[in-house]
Amino acid sequence: MSFLLSPSLMCADLGRLREEILSLEAAGADSYHIDIMDGEFVPNFALSWADAAAVRKLTKRPLEVHLMVKNPLLHLPYAFACGVDIIFIHLESGSFAECVRRIRAEGREAGMVLNPETPLEEAEDFLDEVDRVMLMRVKPGFAGQSAVPGIEERIAAFAARRGQGVLCLDGNVGPDVVKKWKAQGVGSFVLGTSALFGKQKLYAELMADLRQ
Ligand code: DX5
Ligand code: ZN
Repeated sequence: MSFLLSPSLMCADLGRLREEILSLEAAGADSYHIDIMDGEFVPNFALSWADAAAVRKLTKRPLEVHLMVKNPLLHLPYAFACGVDIIFIHLESGSFAECVRRIRAEGREAGMVLNPETPLEEAEDFLDEVDRVMLMRVKPGFAGQSAVPGIEERIAAFAARRGQGVLCLDGNVGPDVVKKWKAQGVGSFVLGTSALFGKQKLYAELMADLRQ
């Protein structure tokens, strides 16, 4: 079963963005994950649309934006203008359905993100409307957290029904998580501090291990 590895650029060294992208590219990054926050939907800020535009100039690989904002509609024109390929919207944020409609009308991929405490049943009505579903393994907003209790059972419940390629995991995705869930048909993994950044090994070595 093939799966995608998507480094989370909020964890990269932004002062060396070009070198970081070159190393990640050579290491086999399939796409790049860009976290955009508004300080309200989550109590933090991360990357900006200016960062996304800078990344767009440095790579041809797909860019996925994860919008952790109260009003995602406000952000869509920026996403379209800077050429991102996949836009993840939280089901818990305002205007989810309208955002998905606009994203697909624009010919981009729409992803749904669920916070750890959001019941899976709430996703049901929208599953056929989206290209991907991302389950957060942590409360969104910060890198470097531990997975929330009970998350493995929740992923298993979803993967049993809709795993094949659609499901993405974000937050505390370490090597053991990739190893376990790639075998269950999880389609993509967001790589932050748990798997890739701030380690003593090269990206190429770490990513080669994750692929095995
Ligand atoms: C969390 C972010 C992730 C984060 C995950 O809200 O969406 O992209 O970087 O990486 P970890 O948890 O491994 O540091
Ligand atoms: Zn994210």
